[in-house]
Amino acid sequence: MRLCLKKASLTCLSGLRRGNRGSGVPPTLNLCRESQLPTLRFHLTGTKYSCGSGGCGACTVMVSRYDPKTKKIHHYPVTACLVPICSLHGAAVTTVEGVGSMKTRLHPVQERLAKCHGTQCGFCSPGMVMSIYTLLRNHPEPTPEQITEALGGNLCRCTGYRPIVESGKTFCAVSNDKKYFFNSCASLSISEVPFVFCFVEMCTKLYNEDEFQPFDPTQEPVFPPELIRMAEDPNKRRLTFRGKRTTWITPVNLNDLLELKTSFPEAPIIMGNTAVGPSIKFRDEFHPVFISPLGLQELYFVDSTDDGTRGYSLAQLNDALHFIVSEQPKEKTKTYHALLKHLRTLAGAQIRNMATLGGHVVSRPNYSDLNPILAAGNATINLISKEGKRQIPLDGRFLEKSPEANLKSEETVLSVYILHSTQWHFVSGLRIAQRQENAFAIVNAGMSVKFEDGTDTIKELQMFYGSVGPTVVSASKTCQQLIGRKWNDQMLSDACRLVLDEIYIPPDAEGGMVEYRRTLIISLLFKFYLKVRRGLNKMVRTTSLGLWAPWPPGHEMHGNKITCFVREQCVDPHQPPQDPVGHPVMHQSAIKHTTGEAVFVDDMPPISQELFLAVVTSTRAHAKIILIDTSAALALPGVVDVITAEDVPGDNSYQGEIFYAQNEVCDLCTVICVGQIVCTVAADTYAHAKEAAKKVRIVYEDLEPRIITIEQALEHNSFLSAEKKIEQGDVEQAFKYVDQIIEGKVHVEGQEHFYMETQTILAIPQEEDKEMVCTYVTLGTYLFQEYVAAALNIPRNRIACHTKRAGGAFGGKVSKPALLGAVSAVAAKKTGRPIRFILERGDDMLITAGRHPLLGKYKIGFMNNGVIKAADIEYYINGGCSPDESELVMEFMVLRSENAYYIPNFRCRGRPCKTNLPSNTAFRGFGFPQGIVVGEAYITAVASQCDLTPEQVKEINMYKRTSRTAHKQTFNPEPLRRCWKECLEKSSFSARKLALGCPQPLQSGEAAALVHIYLDGSVLVSHSGCELGQGLHTKMIQVASRELNIPESYIHLSETNTTTVSNATFTAGSMGADINGKAVQNACQILKARLEPVIRKNPRGTWEAWISEAYKESISLSTTGYFKGYQTNMDWKKGEGNAFPYFVYGASCSEVEVDCLTGAHKLLRTDIFMDAAFSINPAVDIGQIEGAFVQGMGFYTIEELKYSPEGVLYSRGPDDYKIPTVTEIPEEFNVTLVRSQNPIAIYSSKGLGEAGMFLGSSVLFAIYDAVAAARRERGLTKTFTLSSPATPELIRMTCVDQFTDMVRLVRRAPC
Ligand SMILES: Cc1cc2nc3c(=O)[nH]c(=O)nc-3n(C[C@H](O)[C@H](O)[C@H](O)COP(=O)(O)OP(=O)(O)OC[C@H]3O[C@@H](n4cnc5c(N)ncnc54)[C@H](O)[C@@H]3O)c2cc1C
Ligand code: FES
Ligand code: FES
Repeated sequence: MRLCLKKASLTCLSGLRRGNRGSGVPPTLNLCRESQLPTLRFHLTGTKYSCGSGGCGACTVMVSRYDPKTKKIHHYPVTACLVPICSLHGAAVTTVEGVGSMKTRLHPVQERLAKCHGTQCGFCSPGMVMSIYTLLRNHPEPTPEQITEALGGNLCRCTGYRPIVESGKTFCAVSNDKKYFFNSCASLSISEVPFVFCFVEMCTKLYNEDEFQPFDPTQEPVFPPELIRMAEDPNKRRLTFRGKRTTWITPVNLNDLLELKTSFPEAPIIMGNTAVGPSIKFRDEFHPVFISPLGLQELYFVDSTDDGTRGYSLAQLNDALHFIVSEQPKEKTKTYHALLKHLRTLAGAQIRNMATLGGHVVSRPNYSDLNPILAAGNATINLISKEGKRQIPLDGRFLEKSPEANLKSEETVLSVYILHSTQWHFVSGLRIAQRQENAFAIVNAGMSVKFEDGTDTIKELQMFYGSVGPTVVSASKTCQQLIGRKWNDQMLSDACRLVLDEIYIPPDAEGGMVEYRRTLIISLLFKFYLKVRRGLNKMVRTTSLGLWAPWPPGHEMHGNKITCFVREQCVDPHQPPQDPVGHPVMHQSAIKHTTGEAVFVDDMPPISQELFLAVVTSTRAHAKIILIDTSAALALPGVVDVITAEDVPGDNSYQGEIFYAQNEVCDLCTVICVGQIVCTVAADTYAHAKEAAKKVRIVYEDLEPRIITIEQALEHNSFLSAEKKIEQGDVEQAFKYVDQIIEGKVHVEGQEHFYMETQTILAIPQEEDKEMVCTYVTLGTYLFQEYVAAALNIPRNRIACHTKRAGGAFGGKVSKPALLGAVSAVAAKKTGRPIRFILERGDDMLITAGRHPLLGKYKIGFMNNGVIKAADIEYYINGGCSPDESELVMEFMVLRSENAYYIPNFRCRGRPCKTNLPSNTAFRGFGFPQGIVVGEAYITAVASQCDLTPEQVKEINMYKRTSRTAHKQTFNPEPLRRCWKECLEKSSFSARKLALGCPQPLQSGEAAALVHIYLDGSVLVSHSGCELGQGLHTKMIQVASRELNIPESYIHLSETNTTTVSNATFTAGSMGADINGKAVQNACQILKARLEPVIRKNPRGTWEAWISEAYKESISLSTTGYFKGYQTNMDWKKGEGNAFPYFVYGASCSEVEVDCLTGAHKLLRTDIFMDAAFSINPAVDIGQIEGAFVQGMGFYTIEELKYSPEGVLYSRGPDDYKIPTVTEIPEEFNVTLVRSQNPIAIYSSKGLGEAGMFLGSSVLFAIYDAVAAARRERGLTKTFTLSSPATPELIRMTCVDQFTDMVRLVRRAPC
């Protein structure tokens, strides 16, 4: 194998030669497969590895190929984690390093993404750059729609996408957006008293477009001429790459392919590898031979002829269909239109560019979006083998894999022939997924009907459904029985009954949601019915076209345009121009993020002797381990050791957290959740470690009880800590005098952090003094140090912990890295070798858990005018199997339970439940986003009982003047009322009837800093906070710059580590900038005071001259700074205290469109008004607000964790767990920073990292408003339970109608 690296800029795999020359590298190795093999990533760190399944886009690179037939070069984006290196023969691969770098030239895409504040943690940024870059290579002046389409396959968990899209749109020729969005700001005039607001004219921008370097598409690297020569070489020969277990063969032409297919009939044909690749990776599928005809002219055609279209690659098919529909009359192109609609939402752009129609048709996934339409459109498949050519219909029998309708193993699909439609022929594709795009369908369908010419009499009917069984299924019996019927309501009614009878989904069907899926079967049919009817209406004047029921028109949801408007603050006009505080300074690492030069732990070069760690986790929720047999694992090549609890030199259980499974009381090992680490395998490569981990045999004996849910925990009285309670007034007494009392229950499900960079640790044992150096991603260095010290039984001063940046954290990297750190440090200690421990996405999701699910109960007493007099609230959260942060989360939840409302008699009690699930942990908002849904639920219920709107009840009960909270903390709610009022006025609320949400208090802690001034005047700042993407280091540089009165360029901030700043508290609770800012300020002020005499002597001197003089005068130029934290206290015995240093307020208003037939929703507009006091960096703070809002919106709507009743987590990757993509964000997104004063915090700022999370709930409440309206239309006026997330399933099943009734009536056993 020869890899040819063309310059630094272009990775050109020009010569993967015949015959593997014994590199030991399997031919199926993907371009970006094991992140733990950086050498195979050519020491290029830009391409990130996050999911490994093609679902996140972090590994996006551009592949370019020369087509000798058209003489054109084709550029397309791919997810490198699914691209076998051998398939790249003859292709040029451009990674983010090839686009531009800080060392060479920055590409405009990289520059603009950085300057538009489109990066936070930066882990997704190289992938974003590659997606936009590839689009520009094909379309130098793209449309805004092309930008969003190109980004649809790239996930970002931090930014909320708006600034990323914004940066892409700077390349558009004409933008229909409000692109220049810096129009006004909320500002406080100097003379104003606290909490008075005024709007004044705009004075700052988030970025300046004039600074962008122009984009010149002619300056891009040329395609390597040697690859052109190779492609045109008339003497090409078959290529064979041989590995130890597998062989990869690339045929030279079609005949060669047919020859190979005859010799190896079972060998898969690898085209896009998007079906085969995941099967090998995640389902352990094995093939000794692969045939890769990629690049064969005969298989690469998209052709349109007089009577049809033939196509292959999905992206090329898309382009061809677009062309045809623009050329041909509409009546001929109904099948093409249906395919185009589904091609837009099928996966992301990368997968569409990799996947082929042949691969799609042959692999026949049960969720296929195209096959049902192709079958409904009577497509045929052209096959070829050495025997000759033949055609088979792409029909129900083929899709259901009936042997006589299948292709033979030696046959190859040459093309798929898609017929034109005709005038009296209607074809449609319908689908519903958890997320609008890039998500497998929950149910999809392809339907077609042909009428007798000039009538509405059915001549031919076809219905195919996906995701309702193991294959796509045809409702052929139903269709047969309806031939000859008129297209009317009676026919529809019969069709629904028949199809429900024909398509059976067993109660225990994979994927669950049985009732919902059955409802969708007929809801989609109804949508088709309406569509055809409208078409018929236009063509014939049928007499009986009155609607069957008062349904909304079955129109398509709006497309995604995304406009935004950001209002931010002015700085004081008297502020010196070089003072960066208050300005939208770009993230300190933004450019490095976009060029891929920012180093994450996974990017660190291999260390001599290093070993990789793979985990073996429990498959039982509660069981005794009878046996751990490691012999088979230890016998495998490359395996060095297996590490268990017995190898832990110190404490294996620390503060209730168990590192390796063990029982503390008896000798037997016990597991207490599925996903608990039983042992780890250390090997020379990750592949070896993983392979060996699979061979560890564990024998369990189940134990009782197995507690999975909160209800089960309550039944068993299983709790992690004592009850927390706050109370004011006399709740029991008040209930006696109120007009009405309501009681209810609310379920709020959990959430996965889904940080883009999974948990990663590098533990390096040192030769001397038992020292251990750990590099990892975390929010809390001291906790990490503490756990490692406990596990190794050594003092903390021997453990040096370093963290430079984390690819997102959101609370998930507080305690879990400490536990995993202990696990890896034990392995390092035992083996005496460095350990690289990187959790795969699936393991990360399984082991580290996430946000606590909540069961909330309420009893509310209120007057008929909506005034709430008494509330009795109970909270129970599912804490999982160990304490982690659950007690603290519950404290915060209880303390924040009032939200924005004053209820004179108020009681809230809460307890974390102990269950046999992985231990839940901190998550942005720390319990508030869950708890508050309960409050909003009873507000809605009270409104319904009093015939008021929820907003009226909120307004009536909202805190109005300086008051005391239920835990007796005094506060002034003026900023809250201001945000609320602004939101009502400026969001056109009254015209659109939407939902709002409110405030968020903060937590506290102490912080330290260390500042060195060097003799050249440069300054190095260290502090106790960790950079997680939230722009903390950027703000700290701004603080140091103001305090020392020097430009930011003089200041450097490298990393957080325990050797410079000890005992650092967590970077959490939005307090990072507050507390570390004060510590940095303190250090800088000490240094400034020391320099004062020198400056006084030479006031006109330069900074460098003063430093030089100070050195001569033996003035110390280094100092520490300290902030002891805000003075807070809480006495839980009394339920009283000043628990929070200050409060952050915000209000948001969202408008949604809900499809009551499918449960899909579309977010049309969101307005956020956030009290930022004075923002140190408005760009960073707006980024936090938007990012938190979108994360919150995901939590309240589409993010759904699924467990089996036995406690096994099903959702272990982007395929099963859907976080918002660019298509979920509001079409119109308005954010305003409302200014107030907060003298307690540095520069009167506020911490905003968490507060936006809850504002995402405005989407939930808007959905419920819409659902309530739909229910009212159907005469259902009774209050319904408000739960979260409002998934499509929940929405649809709450919009009760004839279809849901019919599904409940027609229940039957399988035939
Ligand atoms: C992240 C991700 C998201 C996805 N989202 C969706 C989605 O939303 N909707 C949807 O419908 N699909 C989705 N898919 C599935 C995708 O559409 C299919 O995996 C893809 O179409 C398969 O094409 P391929 O070229 O990659 O096939 P390959 O993986 O290369 O091959 C698949 C199979 O087809 C056979 N084969 C390929 N070509 C031929 C040929 N010419 N003759 C005979 N046999 C052949 C191979 O032997 C193999 O068995 C998704 C896939 C991924 C990875
Ligand atoms: S790592 Fe390749 S798509 Fe996620
Ligand atoms: S910046 Fe996109 S994932 Fe962090």
